[in-house]
Amino acid sequence: MEPNVFNQIANQYDTEERIQLARRILEKLNPTLSLGTKKTLLDFGCGTGLLGIPLTAQYKEVVFVDDSAVMLEVLQSKIKANGIENTKTMAVGDLAGSNVLPVDEILLSLVLLHIPETESAIQFLYRLIRPGGKLFLVDFDKNEKVSHPKVHNGFDQKTLRELFLKIGFRNVSSSTILEEKKVFMNEDASLFLLVAEK
Ligand SMILES: C[S@@+](CC[C@H](N)C(=O)[O-])C[C@H]1O[C@@H](n2cnc3c(N)ncnc32)[C@H](O)[C@@H]1O
Repeated sequence: MEPNVFNQIANQYDTEERIQLARRILEKLNPTLSLGTKKTLLDFGCGTGLLGIPLTAQYKEVVFVDDSAVMLEVLQSKIKANGIENTKTMAVGDLAGSNVLPVDEILLSLVLLHIPETESAIQFLYRLIRPGGKLFLVDFDKNEKVSHPKVHNGFDQKTLRELFLKIGFRNVSSSTILEEKKVFMNEDASLFLLVAEK
C-alpha cells in the first residue's frame, strides 16, 4: 500500500501560509453558513481543522472526518488544547456505522481535488446530508498550469454544478471567491465556493 502523503506532512501542515489561506476562505464562507443555528456540520477531509475548529463556535456539533490518521491526531491535540467539547472525530470508514448521520451541513474544503472519483465522492456525501441540508465545497478553479498524476488540476465550476444537479442537489450556485499567489502546486490560482442544497 502506498504511504498516505497527508500522514507524512500532518505535523508540518499548519504553515503560516495555510493558516492565512484558511482565514481568507472562512471570511468568504461565513456569510453563506447557517450561523447562530443549532446545526451539525461534517468537515469532510478536515485535515488539522484550520477551518472546522473556528466553526465549532457556530454549530451544535462539528464532526471531523479524514482518511489520514496523523491529520486526525494533530486535530485532536488542538481540540484538547482549546478545550472544545462539541466535536466528534472519526476515520472515513467509521462514519457509516456512527450515530452522527444524517448531518445538516457538509464542508468539503480543498479535498475533492485529492479524490480520484469525483462523481462517486459527491454521491457518497449526498447520502450523508439530511433533506434540506447543504454542502459547501471550496476548491481550485481549473488550472492548466498545474499537472500532477494524483491531483485534479482544479474543476470547471459549470461542469461541477451540472454534476451536483444530476446527483440530486438543488439550488446549486458557485462563484470564484479568492485569487491567490503560488497557492496551487506553487502556481497562482483562484478558488471557488459552490453551495448546494439537498
Ligand atoms: C489539502 S487538505 C485540506 C484540509 C482542510 N479541509 C482545509 O481546508 O484546511 C486535504 C485533506 O483531505 C484529506 N483527504 C484526502 N482524500 C480523502 C478522502 N478520500 N477521504 C477523506 N479525506 C481525504 C487529506 O487527508 C487531507 O487532510
